[in-house]
Amino acid sequence: MYNDNFMTEKNIEMADKNFDVNDQSTVDNEETVGEIHVGDPRIVAKNVDVHYGDKIAINNVSIDIGKNEVLAMIGPSGCGKSTFLRCLNRMNDTIDSCAVKGELYLDKENILDKKIDVVSLRAKVGMVFQKPNPFPKSIYENVAYGAKIHGMAKNKAELDEIVFKSLERAGLFQEVKDRLDSPGTSLSGGQQQRLCIARTIAVSPEVILMDEPCSALDPIATAKVEELIYELKENFTIVIVTHAMQQAARVSQRTAYFHLGNLVEVGPTEKIFTTPIHKLTESYITGRFG
Ligand SMILES: Nc1ncnc2c1ncn2[C@@H]1O[C@H](COP(=O)(O)OP(=O)(O)O)[C@@H](O)[C@H]1O
Ligand SMILES: [Mg+2]
Repeated sequence: MYNDNFMTEKNIEMADKNFDVNDQSTVDNEETVGEIHVGDPRIVAKNVDVHYGDKIAINNVSIDIGKNEVLAMIGPSGCGKSTFLRCLNRMNDTIDSCAVKGELYLDKENILDKKIDVVSLRAKVGMVFQKPNPFPKSIYENVAYGAKIHGMAKNKAELDEIVFKSLERAGLFQEVKDRLDSPGTSLSGGQQQRLCIARTIAVSPEVILMDEPCSALDPIATAKVEELIYELKENFTIVIVTHAMQQAARVSQRTAYFHLGNLVEVGPTEKIFTTPIHKLTESYITGRFG
């Protein structure tokens, strides 16, 4: 049995080096193996390519993401996990050199359509980042912010309800209810990350994107956030990028393995970790822990 302590930054770096990420011979132009389709998709990606200038970062990726599922995205550093995640709420728009091609649908709405309103898209597809990033505002205002911008509350009582309920669902209410006016930044790292999750939930998203949301947290805070992710899937679709295989195994139902911009394999998490189809997936899994 391995444990998460193995996954220190140094070990990750070494594992990524030992694993020959430059060996492109086996993946070029290969189809993704496993099960890319689900019966009840919320997001559908078809032949998505992403370039940064001349450089290709995501190559012909097609995948469905189901309702009420947690999809984990794994793979060596630089394989394009964050780039693909950012496609899902048009965050790549903020990078000048970045060009996204292909088709990407959220509940049949084309996310890549230049005409869609990205502000409302980002309310529907919220994002939680690696480092907790509360606004320089009170705990209350952090959670109320989005709800105010999107006009979700008619009065203070309604806003209170949104804020309290979101903090409750993020498993933070009991810890902060007596100091809602304190700055968000006065909380511990794990609490700050749950505050950021509460802030995301407050605007009633359909999908929550998480890019290595626990990598700045200690094991106890990580366990709390993982528990939360597991519960949140009842109401949201969650896509999580993670460096920790154990985390993918604990929180997700499906796992996608990326390698050099290619989506190599997708399948039920247990299958990916026990009987992967592709030899690259297997090398990656066993290379780290074998
Ligand atoms: N803003 C950017 N400008 C140029 N290249 C980038 C940018 N962000 C990422 N890349 C490149 O795209 C590839 C995929 O990166 P990324 O999506 O961050 O991978 P991962 O999240 O899997 O580590 C890498 O080669 C990386 O160097
Ligand atoms: Mg990344």
